[in-house]
Amino acid sequence: MKSLYSKFAVTTIAIMFFSGILSFLFTNMYYQNYLKRQNDLKIVKMASEISDFLHSHDQINLNEYLEHIGSIGYQLYITDGGMKKTYGAEFRERELSDKAVTEVLNGQIYHGIAQFPHKTFVTGFFANELKNTVGVPIEYKNKAYALFLRPDIKLLFNEMHIMFGWIVVGTILISMMFVLISTKFLVKPISKLNKATKLIAEGNFGIKLSIQRQDEIGALAASFKKMASKLENVNDMRKEFISNISHDIQSPLANIKGYIKLLRARKLDSEEKSYLEVVESEVTRLSNLTKQLLLLSSIDSKKDLMDVKHFNLSEQIKTVIRQYQWNLNEKGIVMSYTLPETFVNGDPSLLYSVWENILTNAIKYNIDNGEIDISLTENDTYYVIVFTDTGIGMDEGEIERIYDRFYRGDSSRTRTIEGTGLGLSIVYSIVEMHHGKICVESRKERGTTFTIRLRKV
Ligand SMILES: Nc1ncnc2c1ncn2[C@@H]1O[C@H](COP(=O)(O)OP(=O)(O)OP(=O)(O)O)[C@@H](O)[C@H]1O
Ligand SMILES: [Mg+2]
Repeated sequence: MKSLYSKFAVTTIAIMFFSGILSFLFTNMYYQNYLKRQNDLKIVKMASEISDFLHSHDQINLNEYLEHIGSIGYQLYITDGGMKKTYGAEFRERELSDKAVTEVLNGQIYHGIAQFPHKTFVTGFFANELKNTVGVPIEYKNKAYALFLRPDIKLLFNEMHIMFGWIVVGTILISMMFVLISTKFLVKPISKLNKATKLIAEGNFGIKLSIQRQDEIGALAASFKKMASKLENVNDMRKEFISNISHDIQSPLANIKGYIKLLRARKLDSEEKSYLEVVESEVTRLSNLTKQLLLLSSIDSKKDLMDVKHFNLSEQIKTVIRQYQWNLNEKGIVMSYTLPETFVNGDPSLLYSVWENILTNAIKYNIDNGEIDISLTENDTYYVIVFTDTGIGMDEGEIERIYDRFYRGDSSRTRTIEGTGLGLSIVYSIVEMHHGKICVESRKERGTTFTIRLRKV
């Protein structure tokens, strides 16, 4: 089946067809195992009542009485071995074994309805045959007769309705079940594609799609894989380009720095000095940017080459805090922390960049005399490090983009603060390399909380 259209059409028709057949088979089982016997008993009861009545009312005219029973909706056949007579609607098939007649004449009951052949489907229920009756012995005026009886088609109408009702309800229920199952099967690859799209949106291009179908969805999956590998190529090229450029910028920057040093040694007037300061700060900025870019590209290319060590995490975070003590004091920020001694496995220099980036953000985007709190806890699977600040905060739109390379918040306050917009994308990559998680909660003008979970190994 090539197209989704034909797959869908054929499945639906097949479901309708099979549900009809299955429901018919179930109804048939119900008839064979339950209804046939039940009906037989009901008619035996009725026949026995007729028999009892005739036995105790000898004076009544047998012929007239049986005609009356015939007229209220029964088909009857009476015989004493020689004489044979029918009442009510005619039997279509009047075949009946002599054995059955003799047995009834000898006082036994004939269960023709319950014993009606198994091979006949539920329609056997309505078979207008003499075989499909019950037989009871009758004693009338001291003479033995055999009376065979079945309700005629008019009396069976009610049962017929119930039976067709069962078939219809059964068909609906069974097809609903099949539709639910088949729809799931049809939709499954679409859910897979959806998951893959989300992965690509998050930047994971190496997706694996196990969709081997010949229809439109199969074609879509194939194009999707192609697109993912092209995107991966473009992404790799972009990273390589950035890394090459940053590398090439490094040496002219080092040259400029050297010349600045030479100029500083000279006697300059105050105006020249201030120009030199501007040049120096711009060069520092450029050099920071290229360093960060190089760090990012080395992270990208060396994902499996981490230098993992067992080291004191709390001590490392305290070192970072000490390093930025001057900036904290300058802004009047109150720093508090809970850092119980904890040893972790990880790449110390990479993780150092994480705490450094998050702490500098908490300082840069804080208000004067604000607060920062750092805590380190652990649970069964993770070490949890939480940085909370009382800074300018972010809205939903900003939060969504903070891990993008070069993204910087666009509030007027953020614009005046120095930064390249690479810090958090570096943090994200490093945390990911450590199989950890980073999440952020923030409210505009209230503050921000970054939570980093490092998996215990
Ligand atoms: N603690 C914070 N409070 C408010 N906004 C923040 C916070 N941390 C990050 N942001 C927002 O996220 C943006 C991206 O942060 P990121 O650290 O990646 O870059 P940056 O700090 O601007 O530059 P740098 O590369 O020098 O770190 C910031 O520009 C800022 O708008
Ligand atoms: Mg930053």
